[in-house]
Amino acid sequence: MIYLDNAATSWPKPEPVYDAVSDALRRGGNPGRGESEKARAAATDIIEARSVLAELFHIADPNRIVFALNATDAINLALQGMLKPGDHVITSQMEHNAVTRPLAYLEDAGVMVTKVTTDPVKGVDLDELRQAFRPETKLVVMAHASNVTGALNPIEEVGAICREHKVPFLVDAAQSAGAIPIDVVKMNIDLLAIPGHKSLLGPTGTGALYVSETVSPKPLRSGGTGVFSEVRLQPEQLPYYYEAGTQNTVGIAGLCAGVRYILEKSVSSIYHEEQKMIQRLLDGLVSMPEVTVYGPLQSPRAAAVSFNIEGMDCADVAMILETYYDISVRSGLQCAPDTHRMLGTFDMNGTVRVSPGLFTTDEEIDAFLNAISEIIKG
Ligand code: ALA
Repeated sequence: MIYLDNAATSWPKPEPVYDAVSDALRRGGNPGRGESEKARAAATDIIEARSVLAELFHIADPNRIVFALNATDAINLALQGMLKPGDHVITSQMEHNAVTRPLAYLEDAGVMVTKVTTDPVKGVDLDELRQAFRPETKLVVMAHASNVTGALNPIEEVGAICREHKVPFLVDAAQSAGAIPIDVVKMNIDLLAIPGHKSLLGPTGTGALYVSETVSPKPLRSGGTGVFSEVRLQPEQLPYYYEAGTQNTVGIAGLCAGVRYILEKSVSSIYHEEQKMIQRLLDGLVSMPEVTVYGPLQSPRAAAVSFNIEGMDCADVAMILETYYDISVRSGLQCAPDTHRMLGTFDMNGTVRVSPGLFTTDEEIDAFLNAISEIIKG
């Protein structure tokens, strides 16, 4: 089987991730709850996970990393915690529903939303972005990379513009964390939403939000923290302010192992290797006249590549790949209707999306390209 759906979730995971999950589950323990050896060991796992994540994203204080269920959960905390009726927020046109749906609810509640024109290759229009700021603007939120096309928003430039306007910047790193270098200081990122189960190679049900000292979103949940139990409301110390209830200690132990694996290889070497493989994939697809590829045709980009075959429905192509070639991809709108409106693929039921990962080989890319060529020939 050839797995080319890493933008949905990475597979397989490195062996140490499976081991860490199994070890944590067998050992047990609830961090911060009780003095048992198990509770202390589980707490150590969580501290270690915060510390490797901090190293990866150049975050000075690991306690400013708050664990979440996934990137969507982290984005919800940031958006709902930062915005109130009457506020204005700026975003791009190539967002995932993880951003557009929470913003739609906030819009219904009286938050004003501006979606800045976005180019399928170059990302958000920086001149239009500069013009979009108003006195009520309280946040800019943007995907680092499109989950449909792999196009990048110019995050560093956007971060600098936000800093000039003294407006906090939230980045959805769902398709870049672990695959593309991110430095929250250099990129002026105030809030970074991170999925654990994609390029960070951890299990599903893990994610995190980095909250810089420049912002203080309201918590989304409240409840037990294991410490400061005498305080009536959520204790304001981080990470407790945002982490209520028992943590996903098993998942976080796996995530920690995934991040360690990435740090050992280094994100920049993963990035450069992946760019070569994506180029092989793009060159192969572009050489077929019946294929339309959407988004950037060369580096820099993320690994998701979207295309359609002339005269074929994307769902049929994905079904044929799965049934006759044992190749997994994802077709449709990929939870990103705005991106498909921008690409002109919304009324075509979307695209076929192919997303290689860390363990994809050149041979698998070639087998995929051969399959597409055979499907075209019928
Ligand atoms: N956001 C993930 C995707 O694009 C699930 O497939």
